[in-house]
Amino acid sequence: MAEKKSKRLKLGAMIHGVGGGWGDWRHREAITDASVNFGFYKHNAQKAEEGKFDFVFIADSVFIHEKSSPHYLNRFEPLTILSALAAVTERIGLVATLTVSYSEPFHVARQFASLDHLSGGRAGWNIVTSWLSGSAGNYSKEEHPAHEIRYRIAQEHLDVVKGLWDSWEDDAFIGDKQAGVFFDPDKLHTLDHKGEFFSVRGPLNISRSKQGQPVIFQAGTSEDGRNYAAKNADAIFVGHENIEEAKLYYKDLKRRAAGFGRNPDDLFILPGIGPIVGRTEEEAERKYLEKVNLVTIEDAITALGRPFNDHDFSQYPLDEPFPELGDLGKDSQQGGSERIKRLARENNFTLRQVALRFATPRGNFVGTPEKIADILQQWLEEEASDGFIINSAIPGGLDDFVELVVPILQERGIFHTEYEHETLRGHLGLEVPANRYTKVKAVVQ
Ligand SMILES: Cc1cc2nc3c(=O)[nH]c(=O)nc-3n(C[C@H](O)[C@H](O)[C@H](O)COP(=O)(O)O)c2cc1C
Repeated sequence: MAEKKSKRLKLGAMIHGVGGGWGDWRHREAITDASVNFGFYKHNAQKAEEGKFDFVFIADSVFIHEKSSPHYLNRFEPLTILSALAAVTERIGLVATLTVSYSEPFHVARQFASLDHLSGGRAGWNIVTSWLSGSAGNYSKEEHPAHEIRYRIAQEHLDVVKGLWDSWEDDAFIGDKQAGVFFDPDKLHTLDHKGEFFSVRGPLNISRSKQGQPVIFQAGTSEDGRNYAAKNADAIFVGHENIEEAKLYYKDLKRRAAGFGRNPDDLFILPGIGPIVGRTEEEAERKYLEKVNLVTIEDAITALGRPFNDHDFSQYPLDEPFPELGDLGKDSQQGGSERIKRLARENNFTLRQVALRFATPRGNFVGTPEKIADILQQWLEEEASDGFIINSAIPGGLDDFVELVVPILQERGIFHTEYEHETLRGHLGLEVPANRYTKVKAVVQ
């Protein structure tokens, strides 16, 4: 593999309201309306920027029911909250999740191009295909597309969005008042796309921004998902149980990226972690136990259902071997559900053990600032990751990370001390993609 461009971590902060779990909102320091509280989002985005994070990230999905986790029941739409955060931050990247299975490429291209302009080139799109089949009912659809079809939709959708983003060449808008020429018609391009899933004429009604095109994020774990990410993404989110698993994934995705003719260094692999930092080991452990104690077994069983299209696990005996599920999960979060089945099988776990392990993963990331910094450094140096997406597991967790861990990473020279660029693409060291039409003209001339 080519020499790595840089041995510096890339860091993103997931801002996730009251937290991902079912009991997080009951933490003594939790703000119960955090998921719709602008002050909460502003504080965390500014804190992440103070810590020189490369970006903040807003997760999303488009279907809820009464057993969904509290954050999902009542939360901001990602592009809306990021547009507001663009106005109260200067440098940090702004990454929003938006599903390709329930959106039109024209609308998506407009929204992200607008955020990109508003923020001075800081927008990123986390492409998801949506694993909850109930989503169909919110979008006038009879059926949720199957996993494999969702990835086919995802490819065509993204191709169309990228095509639309190039509708205008960079110097198309002349604005010559004297001559009365607003734009150069030779630099306006109509896509005229007709494909398997979408039919989009174009052109888009907004120009390219400073970073050319927003940065693409994705989180594929299945075979189709991995290929999609390796082919299209600039950065990948992933969840891992341990460093060995992470190294295998890292190697595999970099290899696949090279197979698609890409420079593997242009693809950043960012595992999601929920560090719990304490000034001492005891303090970290206490904070972790405080979180664990908020999780009831009923909530853990509900949480376990999520990657399986919200399957109801309460129907099985708790203390008997994990049930045989056949193909269940294959059509929802394929990668995640397979991992849970494997974990149960390899360890002979009962349903209770699997549920508790899934709902309150201890992971490696609980400890003193030095211990956390050591582990992040190890993952970076041993090619298990290029950075991390930090999902602070407890209230105030991001503040702790920024104040206690970031200075150590900076001292060790594995994280930048200042923003060196203005755009998200710049922070990641990615080139601005040339407009496709300008590129062709340059070759012809
Ligand atoms: C850190 C991280 C963040 C994710 N964020 C979202 C999200 O906001 N919305 C969503 O629908 N899926 C999200 N996912 C799930 C992925 O989109 C995907 O469904 C999952 O990784 C399963 O992969 P597969 O599609 O290849 O089966 C996330 C995954 C990870 C690891």
